[in-house]
Amino acid sequence: MAADQRGKAATLALRRRLLSSSCRLFFPEDPIKIVRGQGQYMYDEQGAEYIDCINNVAHVGHCHPLVVQAAHEQNQVLNTNSRYLHDNIVDYAQRLSKTLPEKLCVFYFLNSGSEANDLALRLARQYTGHWDVVVLDHAYHGHLSSLIDISPYKFRDLDGQKEWVHVAPLPDTYRGPYREDHPNPAVAYASEVKRVVSSAQEKGRKIAAFFAESLPSVGGQIIPPAGYFPEVAGHIRRAGGVFVADEIQVGFGRVGKHFWAFQLQGEDFVPDIVTMGKSIGNGHPVACVATTQAVARAFEATGVEYFNTFGGSPVSCAVGLAVLDVLEKEQLQAHAACVGSFLMELLGQQKAKHPILGDIRGVGLFIGVDLIKDEATRMPATEEADYVVSRLKENYILLSTDGPGRNVLKFKPPMCFSLENARHVVAKLDAILTGEPGGQGAADNVLESSLESQPPSMPRDRRLIAEPDVF
Ligand SMILES: Cc1ncc(COP(=O)(O)O)c(C=O)c1O
Repeated sequence: MAADQRGKAATLALRRRLLSSSCRLFFPEDPIKIVRGQGQYMYDEQGAEYIDCINNVAHVGHCHPLVVQAAHEQNQVLNTNSRYLHDNIVDYAQRLSKTLPEKLCVFYFLNSGSEANDLALRLARQYTGHWDVVVLDHAYHGHLSSLIDISPYKFRDLDGQKEWVHVAPLPDTYRGPYREDHPNPAVAYASEVKRVVSSAQEKGRKIAAFFAESLPSVGGQIIPPAGYFPEVAGHIRRAGGVFVADEIQVGFGRVGKHFWAFQLQGEDFVPDIVTMGKSIGNGHPVACVATTQAVARAFEATGVEYFNTFGGSPVSCAVGLAVLDVLEKEQLQAHAACVGSFLMELLGQQKAKHPILGDIRGVGLFIGVDLIKDEATRMPATEEADYVVSRLKENYILLSTDGPGRNVLKFKPPMCFSLENARHVVAKLDAILTGEPGGQGAADNVLESSLESQPPSMPRDRRLIAEPDVF
């Protein structure tokens, strides 16, 4: 029996029997069975189309034909490890180097974001001769033991903070200690890092690295104030450590204005190590660490080989090259800037109408909508956020929440997400928040126009509109 002919209930029963429940499903009460993806859309076993607003792995679009073709063609010829000379790996390193500041000129190829961050940790420790790490509160950097230890998002629910890990506050100007009315939140939040470093040093600890996502995502789609990273890097480097920018969620043009999100922090800011994953391979397991000659030389000086069986294979590099080609050819970085600012504008209009929309923040196609109980306390509207997400799902729009209060709707769709998609999603959100019967009015008009442009195979009766409800 072909896998996609099995009924949803049968798949769920098999999954429950054979897979650990630690491997969670989206929408556990009514999971979706997805059998096909194309562009910014995913299709269930009945053929219903969902707009994917969260998959930043399918960066240039689900199953992009040029990426699929590149993998297929290279698979037909050769796929082996990187111990042989091959042009794909050097071509790919060269292409990546053109996107980065000149100093970041040595590359390691791996298979996952976690592997990349684990290697970054090894590089930092080897280079500095120090052991400790400063991280941002609520951060997530991967699922390996080493990374759970530097991910407050995880270790708080496990065996807690190790003595070599030091946590600085999220540079969150909406909920943190220094807010939008502070004269210089970048310096104020960086001083918090300095304080954390000094207190570690007083205990005799030595800082190897500061790890941060260039835009913290699980922390609640946070946009650190510009100038924060250079200030932090100053404090960390004076303590003998290095700055690691985790671009696993936010790199490769997502922020629109720049190719890398750390570049939002200032033209001259250069991290010592940059880690890449997710979007880099459009779904194929590819990851990369870029660093400076100095850091790489220190690692080489151990004399120990770095070998990674699949990392940098000819197929992985062909895929990585194809992703860069598509980004260029389809001008997706500029597209992200344009669609992202349009989406921000539409969401901003909704904020004036719905007091539950506390803060709309974002850059390019990385946007967070912070739902609050009331403006005075900014208390997270967690249940309401859950409700909105489940209603959007009923409307065939896939979104999820994040942030410490799990109240931030996060938008990080494939980069081909369109103006029309933005209009449609916001119209649906408006209808849900207004509690309009059937989401009529502007919402329906947009829905109708977007249905006109759907492939005829799309069952229109599957695109139901939200039931009435009011916040
Ligand atoms: C910021 C960040 N870093 C690292 C990782 C780990 O990547 P992977 O799941 O590919 O190991 C993730 C995954 O969600 C992430 O969001």
